Amino acid sequence: MASTIEKRLSLHKNLAEQRLQNEALESQMTRLQALANIGTATYMVAHEINNLLTPLANFATLALNNPDDKILAEKALRKAIQNCGRASKIMESMLAVANGQTQEKKNTSLIVLVEDIFNCLCRDFSKDAITVDIQIPEDLLVWAVPVQIQQVLMNLILNAREAMLPRGGVLTIKAEDIADSLQIELADTGNGIEPTDLEKIFEPFFTTKVDKKSPSQCSGSGLGLVFVKRIIDIHGGAISVESTPAKGSTFKITLPKP
Ligand SMILES: Nc1ncnc2c1ncn2[C@@H]1O[C@H](COP(=O)(O)OP(=O)(O)OP(=O)(O)O)[C@@H](O)[C@H]1O
Ligand SMILES: [Mg+2]
Repeated sequence: MASTIEKRLSLHKNLAEQRLQNEALESQMTRLQALANIGTATYMVAHEINNLLTPLANFATLALNNPDDKILAEKALRKAIQNCGRASKIMESMLAVANGQTQEKKNTSLIVLVEDIFNCLCRDFSKDAITVDIQIPEDLLVWAVPVQIQQVLMNLILNAREAMLPRGGVLTIKAEDIADSLQIELADTGNGIEPTDLEKIFEPFFTTKVDKKSPSQCSGSGLGLVFVKRIIDIHGGAISVESTPAKGSTFKITLPKP
């Protein structure tokens, strides 16, 4: 009898110890998850800030090389202010991700978000023989965290642009409401994606972009589409891609309405 009681007491003690260990492990996991979020956010900030700084530096260099062109200098300064503003918005957004906060979604004009991106890119697409055809109704709204949707579109637009260089081509951006969701489509007439690569493009660090000066180095980081997918997932949406090598690629995004 005594030994049964002793056994039960010892079992209870073991259980209590296990519970404490589980709790400690859970809190450790939460801390590790927060650290992983900070790691991802750091990569995202570096990647997106680079997207903003590269064209800005090009613009500033152009202005410096043409000291008499006052209009160009003013344009470069305006772009600097605009892109710094966007950079700090991205920082805020990433800090919120790192802290585990979700940012407020709101109804925002899609066409305004898209126009804002082209302003931030500081690149005249027509100079690269790229025609941009935007087919977005003026009153179309997107239910999303605005800065995050801009990041998605910016990454897709930059990829499309790179796929069409140096030949040029057409970038079409379409959007429409279909039933309970918003559909956005970005189609380019660039070099397309090989079928074997298609399944890898959303994987971290997958890139086919090599540095022309030293071909063993990658010029892309292979992170743009990882962030795109992550943001779309956070919004409860979906992204798909169709591509034909040497013909072009089409990325389709579906975002739910509130
Ligand atoms: N529109 C496109 N046309 C052709 N290939 C594309 C297109 N979009 C993506 N890809 C392919 O998918 C790969 C991954 O794209 P992703 O944006 O994730 O990384 P990246 O552009 O190589 O580098 P970065 O991190 O600077 O964006 C690209 O290297 C390219 O091979
Ligand atoms: Mg990219």
